[in-house]
Amino acid sequence: MSDFGTVLLWVVYPYAMLGSFFIGTFVRMRKPGTVTAKSSELLEKKRLIWGSILFHVGILGVFGGHVIGIFVPESFTRSIGISDEFYHRVLAMGIGGFFGAMLLVGVLVLVYRRFSDPRVLATSSISDNIVILALAVTIILGMLSSFVVGPQTPGFDYRQNISIWGRTLFTLQPHWQAMAGSAVPLVYKLHIICGLAIFGFFPYTRLVHALYVPLQYITRRFVVYRRYN
Ligand code: HEM
Repeated sequence: MSDFGTVLLWVVYPYAMLGSFFIGTFVRMRKPGTVTAKSSELLEKKRLIWGSILFHVGILGVFGGHVIGIFVPESFTRSIGISDEFYHRVLAMGIGGFFGAMLLVGVLVLVYRRFSDPRVLATSSISDNIVILALAVTIILGMLSSFVVGPQTPGFDYRQNISIWGRTLFTLQPHWQAMAGSAVPLVYKLHIICGLAIFGFFPYTRLVHALYVPLQYITRRFVVYRRYN
C-alpha cells in the first residue's frame, strides 16, 4: 500500500472515527432522554439473561485489557518484573482469553436471539441488527488475532507496532509507519478497522447506553406490569 493509502487508513480514518465518537457522544449526552437502548426483555428473557450477562462482563474485561495492552509499554511491564513471555501467555492470552471467550459466547447468544426470535426481530431496527453483527465480526476477528494468527506469526508482538500507533494517536503525532507494510498481520488490521468503526457509530446506535449508568433505578419504585384480562 502507498504511503498515502497508509496515512488514509491509519491516521485519517481513526481520527474520523474517534472524532465522531467524542463529538457525537457529547451532542447526544446533551439530550439525556435519548441516551438509551430499547429493551426487548418482555419479548424474550431466557437467552437475553445469559447472553447479556456474558457479553457485559466479557466486554468490561476485554476493554480493560485493551487499555492496558495499548497504553502500558513493554518497558514499564519489564521494569516491574513482568517478562514478555508472562505478559503474552498469562496476562494477554490467559486473562484476555477468559474475558474474550465470555464475550464471544455472549455475543453469539445475542446474535442468535435477535435473528431467531420473530418478535425480537420484528421490533429490531436496521441499526440494532448491524450493531450486533458488527460486534460479532469484531470479536471473532479479535479472538482469531489473539489465538490463531498471533501465535502462528513468529516474531510478531503487537506491542511493538499496534500499541505504539494507538498511543501516538492520542499524543496527536500518529506513528502510522508502525502499521505500514506487512509487519502487522491482516487479521489484526481488519479487527482494528472494525473496532474503530464501532467507536465511530457508537453515538448514533443503541450502544450509547453504555455511557449512562441508570442510578435512579436503585431508588425508583418498581414498575408493575399486569396481565390485561
Ligand atoms: C478500536 C480499536 C481496537 C484495537 C486497536 C484493538 C486491538 C486488539 C489487539 C492488538 C488484540 C490482540 C491481543 C493479543 O494478540 O493478545 C485484540 C484482541 C481482541 N479484541 Fe480488540 N481492538 C480494538 C477494538 C475492539 C473492540 C471494539 C472489541 C469488542 C467489541 C474488541 C475485542 C477483542 C477481543 C475479544 C480480542 C481477543 C481477546 C483479548 O485479547 O481480550 N476489540 N484487540
